[in-house]
Amino acid sequence: MSRVVVCGSLNMDVVVQSARLPEAGETLLGAEVTFLPGGKGLNQAIASARLGIPTAMVGAVGNDSFANSLRGFLADNDVDSSGVREIDGPATGVALIQVADGDNSITVASGANMHFRAEMLHQAPRRDEVWVAQFETPLAATGEILARAHKAGARTVLNLAPYTRHPARLLKSVDVAVLNEIELGQATESKLTSSSSQRSLVAACESLRQRGARAVIATLGAKGALVVSANGVEAIPAFKAKVVDTTGAGDCFVGALAARMAVGAFPTEAARYASAAASCAVERLGAAPSMPTARQVAARLAKA
Ligand code: ATP
Ligand code: RIB
Repeated sequence: MSRVVVCGSLNMDVVVQSARLPEAGETLLGAEVTFLPGGKGLNQAIASARLGIPTAMVGAVGNDSFANSLRGFLADNDVDSSGVREIDGPATGVALIQVADGDNSITVASGANMHFRAEMLHQAPRRDEVWVAQFETPLAATGEILARAHKAGARTVLNLAPYTRHPARLLKSVDVAVLNEIELGQATESKLTSSSSQRSLVAACESLRQRGARAVIATLGAKGALVVSANGVEAIPAFKAKVVDTTGAGDCFVGALAARMAVGAFPTEAARYASAAASCAVERLGAAPSMPTARQVAARLAKA
């Protein structure tokens, strides 16, 4: 079986649940706090591993107790964390996530994540692997690693989140680009929402294909996803879910997509599976801890 290698961020998520989000300058009492493993990279690695695919994580943490907890969580979920480097000085990444009424707002203190460098990578990509990256670690490292993976013949997935301006050549190393409608709007300098017409969403996806990505997937929250590739356009529906917290839905989608690609699925089939997985993730609090198992996803697919 092929392996998924996720390069990216590891954060300790400080999840604060309150009845509503505070106004600027306001102090709100009565919230509850939970410390949960997170970071787009770690979340995507956990999503892949819980689906039974051999998975490795590459990234950077500080020399502190949060780093130990995150490593422990990766190990408990069978993710190989030997590629996660410990850096002296900066703290492990922390994300403050405020959740109110199923909605969230996130502030990230990247810390050690922004000190990750391509030279820290001690494993050469292999052609039977799927390499995954996002934009929560330095662009230079992401670009270099994706280029190496692509050159080695591995399949590559880039989640353009949070959206960051990047060199034009970056997408040439990308087999599947995944982004939500806001990021798609930012990438194409257009105003898009999940209710934009399919025509304008497809046109934006096509313009990213022109820049080099072989397939582009726009995730549209409760409206599902749109896959645009050489085979045409496919709308993937969202699966019915009882929403508790949508944090990490996009990460679950990306991790599950990579996991399916690792067993040979093409983007459209992999995206349908990823949509089922993400619908399970929104039913639990937190990002990484809410990633479903293969059995839970199979049950969701069978019920549809
Ligand atoms: P986040 O930043 O919160 O991780 P995102 O904006 O990157 O999320 P979304 O487009 O919101 O990603 O969600 C990713 C996928 O999760 C969707 O394409 C869909 O398949 C699934 N999903 C999201 N919200 C829901 C929902 N309310 N019900 C069912 N499925 C959902
Ligand atoms: O996508 C969700 C993730 O974004 C959270 O886990 C948080 O750490 C931020 O990086």
